[in-house]
Amino acid sequence: MSAFVVEYARMSDNLIQRIERIGQQLAKATRIACLTGAGISAESGVATFRDANGLWNGFRIEEVATPEAFTQDPQRVWSFYAARRQALLAARPNPGHHALARMKQLCPEFTLITQNVDGLHQQAGSHDLICLHGDIWIDRCNACGWQRRAQQVVETVPTCPACSRHVRPGVVWFGEILPQDALERAIQKCCSAQIMLVVGTSSLVHPAASLATWARQAGAALIEINLEPTPLTDIADESLQGSASNILSALVDSWPQT
Ligand code: OAD
Repeated sequence: MSAFVVEYARMSDNLIQRIERIGQQLAKATRIACLTGAGISAESGVATFRDANGLWNGFRIEEVATPEAFTQDPQRVWSFYAARRQALLAARPNPGHHALARMKQLCPEFTLITQNVDGLHQQAGSHDLICLHGDIWIDRCNACGWQRRAQQVVETVPTCPACSRHVRPGVVWFGEILPQDALERAIQKCCSAQIMLVVGTSSLVHPAASLATWARQAGAALIEINLEPTPLTDIADESLQGSASNILSALVDSWPQT
């Protein structure tokens, strides 16, 4: 965590005032839900998907992130995820991940939901988070259900010790359904939240992106944190533009009890 510096000096006075006001609002709430996307891990050096240097600018989704791609060329798909695992070995949680773990301690009912598969929220101490898109460190066999937590990065697609079929990473691919229990819990928590935070996601991938809309329709105040506007910005009550780690740290710092 010491490698990261929270840059309050770069924030405008207007942004600091808004953060302080929202911090007070958050401190009064008893039920907060938060959805995160790749942007929260960007400052840990993890590539996002749709930004200028994002993964989907260098790879075609249909070649590396669909069940059909895995059937057609398991090694190509495995290599894509092995490279991502390798990159993650050097990644550490940043102040944004830590601020959300702290919010969990401050709010009576704080539910963290992530689209990320990188494990950085867990490393920051958010253990009971809802993972909508799986976990990249799980090795799984689709044929028989065998699975284990990967201990190291393996370059060659492994075979299942139980049934000899190819093992895949435990992420949700395009065209697959999300884990039912995770999605149901996320919907329930978002639709009963008083405030919903949406952090570092382009809000383009559904159903995750719909959670914020459903929360808003159910009466939650919607607060977005992102470097740039997204399709959600127009319906958000507050759109805080800037770095997720800076803004989340400042929000926790402005919590009256801290
Ligand atoms: P995207 O790459 O689509 O969006 C990342 C968002 O983070 C963008 O809106 C950026 O503006 C924002 N961002 C980048 N750096 C930031 C920072 N330091 N602070 C704040 N915001 C920042 O990633 P996701 O929305 O997470 O799914 O993508 C959603 C899903 O699409 C992923 O879970 C993955 C992907 O395909 C699957 O693989 C199934």
